[in-house]
Amino acid sequence: MSAAGSVLVIGGASDIGRAIARVYAEAGRPVVLAARNASRLQTDATDIQLRGGVPVTLLDLDILDSSTFPAFLDAVGDLPGTVISVVGLLGDQAQSSIDPAIAETVMRTNYIGPALLLGEIANRMERRGSGTIIGISSVAGDRGRASNYIYGSAKAGFTAFLSGLRNRLATKGVHVVTIKPGFVDTQMTKGMKLPPLLTASPLEVANAVAASEQRRRDIVYVRPIWRVVMGVIGAVPEKIFKTRMKS
Ligand SMILES: NC(=O)c1ccc[n+]([C@@H]2O[C@H](COP(=O)([O-])OP(=O)(O)OC[C@H]3O[C@@H](n4cnc5c(N)ncnc54)[C@H](OP(=O)(O)O)[C@@H]3O)[C@@H](O)[C@H]2O)c1
Repeated sequence: MSAAGSVLVIGGASDIGRAIARVYAEAGRPVVLAARNASRLQTDATDIQLRGGVPVTLLDLDILDSSTFPAFLDAVGDLPGTVISVVGLLGDQAQSSIDPAIAETVMRTNYIGPALLLGEIANRMERRGSGTIIGISSVAGDRGRASNYIYGSAKAGFTAFLSGLRNRLATKGVHVVTIKPGFVDTQMTKGMKLPPLLTASPLEVANAVAASEQRRRDIVYVRPIWRVVMGVIGAVPEKIFKTRMKS
């Protein structure tokens, strides 16, 4: 194992998660992919293992079932050097706004589940005195919008959680990174018409994640133009935003 230790990817079945696994494996880091029904990832795991020449382990995890987290962490074994949370659920805003059960699943998948698991991992890293935690959040959390505020509010919670964790652990040897990808061409956005200038590939996100760890960045907009876009959107007064920028 490399000095930096293994990498745990939570949400390892996602397009971005598998790209992250590939990038880290090719850098010589053993990978643990955690996902629902993880055995379906066997072909990907074998491919990543062959390319990187490092072990790739598959573990089952449902981020909605926090009662399984202690057993999951036992199954991971030695605490990884890096833990990356990629898990997420966009959901359907129209359905989420009328069905509390659907809204709850979106909120728990994007915020409560990842925050509870990363919180426990953070405590263990703090005791060890080292580690990196990387959370994939979203620009959707930077400002509530009519079109996606259930998902966006959960990402806002996750962003705030990562920010607080980063501040708490800054002097404890544990580094926390928040990644805001902007649009990414994945299963989540399949069928959507995305502007090419604002849309990253899963590999681009994966490379940004790896670079953020190496350069010890705090908050990363994968395409820097998103920082400008969200700066402008954030500056629009609510009075104007609520009537003229409904999308
Ligand atoms: N695509 C974008 O434009 C975009 C933009 C900003 C941020 N993001 C974020 O990037 C991350 C990855 O998304 P993606 O674009 O790669 O889409 P994706 O392929 O749909 O990935 C989402 C992953 O979350 C997993 N997941 C959902 N509920 C889960 C649960 N209860 N337990 C365990 N895993 C669960 C899904 O697993 P299953 O395969 O089992 O369903 C899926 O692998 C997400 O956090 C997303 O919010 C994406």
